[in-house]
Amino acid sequence: MSGHGEAQPMTATKSGPLRGVAEVPGDKSISHRSLIFGAMAVGETRVTGLLEGQDVLDTASAMRAFGADVIRHGQGEWSVHGVGVGGFREPADVIDCGNSGTGVRLIMGTMATSAITATFTGDASLRKRPMGRVTDPLSLFGTRAYGRAGGRLPMTVVGAANPVPVRYALPVASAQVKSAVLLAGLNAPGQTVVIEKEPTRDHSERMLLGFGAELTVEKTAEGNVITLTGRPELRPQTVAVPRDPSSAAFPVCAALLVEGSDIMVPGVSQNLTRNGLYLTLVEMGADIEFMNPREEGGEPVADLRVRFSPDMKGIEVPDERAPSMIDEYPVLSVVAAFATGKTVMRGVKELRVKESDRIDAMARGLEACGVRVEEDEDTLIVHGLGAGGVQGGATCATHLDHRIAMSFMVCGMASKKPVSVDDASPILTSFPVFEGLMQALGADLSRG
Ligand code: S3P
Repeated sequence: MSGHGEAQPMTATKSGPLRGVAEVPGDKSISHRSLIFGAMAVGETRVTGLLEGQDVLDTASAMRAFGADVIRHGQGEWSVHGVGVGGFREPADVIDCGNSGTGVRLIMGTMATSAITATFTGDASLRKRPMGRVTDPLSLFGTRAYGRAGGRLPMTVVGAANPVPVRYALPVASAQVKSAVLLAGLNAPGQTVVIEKEPTRDHSERMLLGFGAELTVEKTAEGNVITLTGRPELRPQTVAVPRDPSSAAFPVCAALLVEGSDIMVPGVSQNLTRNGLYLTLVEMGADIEFMNPREEGGEPVADLRVRFSPDMKGIEVPDERAPSMIDEYPVLSVVAAFATGKTVMRGVKELRVKESDRIDAMARGLEACGVRVEEDEDTLIVHGLGAGGVQGGATCATHLDHRIAMSFMVCGMASKKPVSVDDASPILTSFPVFEGLMQALGADLSRG
C-alpha cells in the first residue's frame, strides 16, 4: 500500500506510436459508493466492474469493520450484504482509509448519525488533509469529532445518538462533503437539505435514488438544492460500475502527445459533472472522436478514438468548469506543456488539498522538465513549448499522489529525454493496471 512500502521509482522514455484499445478500470467514486450504499441496504447488493485499487479495498475493509459482509467473487465481482440504514456496529479497531479522502469522508458521514464511536486514520498524505470540512457540517447533526490540530487524522468520531436533520450550504465545491452530509442524513429523521452553488459530481444522488431513497434535486438561483428524506429502507441493487473517466484521461492524453498514436478508449463517462477535461482538450484542438454514445451502469458513456494532435493551442480554462475536471488538472498541465501558447487554469485552489498540493507538485516537476510555469494560491499557468518541445530529463516527486505519478509518466512518453518519478507506488490506489495497460499500447515504461 502506498506510503507504507518502499518507494518504487519509474521512468517513461520517448515512446513509439501508441496503438490499441485501452480498457481502463472501474470508476473510483462509484466503486466507493457501491460498497458504502450496499452496506446501508438490507440484503445483497451485487457489484461488477468494481475498481480493485487500494483506495476501494480500504473502503471494503472499513465496511466489514462496521458489520457488513463484503465478499469478492472474482475480478471486479463483489457482493455486499448490508446492515440497513442505522445498522452499523461499532468497529473493534481503528479504521485505516489509506490514501483515500473519499473513503474517509464518506464513511465518517455514514457512521455520524449512529450511536457508535470510531477512530479514523490514513497514510502520511491523508493525515495532512483537512477533515473539518466534513466534521463541521456533521456537528450540526449532533456528531462530535476529536482530531489533531487543524482537523487532521487520526480522528475519533462520536456518532449522534439522537440526530437532527440539517440544512447546509456547501462553502466549497466538494462532492465528498455533499455526500458525507447526505449519508449522515440517511439516518436522521425528517429532511436533510444540501445546497451546492456549483454542481459537483452527482453519483451519490443518482445512486441513492437507485437504492430507493427519497431524494429531489431542484435547480434554483442559489444552486442545486438537494433534499433527502431520512430513514428510508434502502433496497439492494445490482451495480455495473462504468469505467473511470479520470483514469481514462492518462491514455487519452498520452495518445494526444505521442507522435503517430491512434487509440480507442471505450466506455468513457460523458456525465456532465465529470467530463470537463474532454471539453477542454477539444477546445485546445485535440483530435478526439466521441463514438457510440449510450448508457452504461446508469451513466452516459461514449467510446473515444484519440489521435496524435500536434497542433494543440493553450486556452483559458473557464473557472466554472473546475468541479467537473478537478482531478484532471495535473495531466492537463502536461498537455498544456506540449501545446503552443499559454494555458491558464484559475479557481483551482482546491488542488492544494488533494492527495498532495497538486499545483506545487506539477509546477516543480514541469519546471524541472524545462517548462515555464506561473502560479499563485488559486492559479496555475503553463507556457507551452509545442509538440515535442519539452526537454524532460528530470526526476519528479510524487508526494504519495497517484495522479502526479501518472501525469509525469505521460510527460516522459513525449519528452526529448526520459522523465522519472521518485515513487510510482501510489498508482495502485486508483489504476493498478496502469503500467501494463500503457506498455501494451506501446509506452516505454520501466522500473527504476
Ligand atoms: C470525489 C470528489 C472529489 C475528487 C475525488 C473523488 C468523490 O473530491 O477530487 O477524487 O468521489 O466524491 P472533492 O469532493 O474534495 O472535490
